[in-house]
Amino acid sequence: MKIGIFGAGQMGRAMIKGWLHSQEVAPQDILVKGGHTATAKNLQAQLGFKLAESVAEFASCDVIVIAVGTLSVVPILESLNEQGIEKLPIISIAAGVSLKEMQTIMGPSYPLAHAIPNTPVQIGEGLTAITYCEALEAPQKETINQTLDYLGDTLETVEEQLDIVSSIAGCGPAFVDIFMEALADGAVLHGMPRALAYEVIAKMMIGSASLALSTGQHPGALKDGVTSPGGTTIRGVAALEKNGFRHAVISGVSALVSE
Ligand SMILES: NC(=O)c1ccc[n+]([C@@H]2O[C@H](COP(=O)([O-])OP(=O)(O)OC[C@H]3O[C@@H](n4cnc5c(N)ncnc54)[C@H](OP(=O)(O)O)[C@@H]3O)[C@@H](O)[C@H]2O)c1
Repeated sequence: MKIGIFGAGQMGRAMIKGWLHSQEVAPQDILVKGGHTATAKNLQAQLGFKLAESVAEFASCDVIVIAVGTLSVVPILESLNEQGIEKLPIISIAAGVSLKEMQTIMGPSYPLAHAIPNTPVQIGEGLTAITYCEALEAPQKETINQTLDYLGDTLETVEEQLDIVSSIAGCGPAFVDIFMEALADGAVLHGMPRALAYEVIAKMMIGSASLALSTGQHPGALKDGVTSPGGTTIRGVAALEKNGFRHAVISGVSALVSE
């Protein structure tokens, strides 16, 4: 599959790395067009993909990904339109541009998707929330899904939910990172070497998340399974709740979505 992508910034780079990491996409099958600085060129020197000189080159791709800031999306769509690019599926990952806005340029029958990935896509462990336009035909949807499947899981949602889903999936890793660091601080306080603490905590979190996914059990039920009566775990849980743990997390999420 030949993938064309506009933008090799934070998220463009993560996606390009993810396609290469999958080993299903070769560097020569990724065509990248950067902005006004050397960002894309510098990345190309490391990763070996093809750099596009013109928008016309994208006609040879199977799918186009737009990974630029909100203000650059419309000019790129207009330039693709001017090239007369026919029914080539386009995935925009720009948070601030809706499918409807894209359709005003490309037309209501053009195959479009709006997706919001997160940074773990670079190691194939991403979660991409996606919404498709109604006009999408099965083969085009298949191409879009294949492009994103190389990067991890894809979750279809209505466009109104993209923001909250992507906030949790995209910003949540920072919350988890702080939690991991705080757990390690506590462990270090009680004598555990820091490197060992980080390894134990990361593996514990992978195990807990995998258990939740594979059993489908409610998180509260999983927590109940660890907290024996009068035991140490419930004492730790009580101490966390006394310090407003749950409220702090909910407030963090509200801060994400209220912007
Ligand atoms: N970062 C995330 O975690 C994340 C997650 C989900 C979605 N998104 C969305 O992804 C988009 C990009 O975010 P980002 O964090 O990757 O931003 P970024 O680091 O600023 O990267 C944007 C890149 O777009 C390039 N660019 C600008 N105009 C262009 C054009 N006309 N043609 C080709 N490339 C162009 C810029 O090139 P130069 O460097 O040369 O100026 C820049 O490298 C945003 O719309 C954002 O909403 C981001």
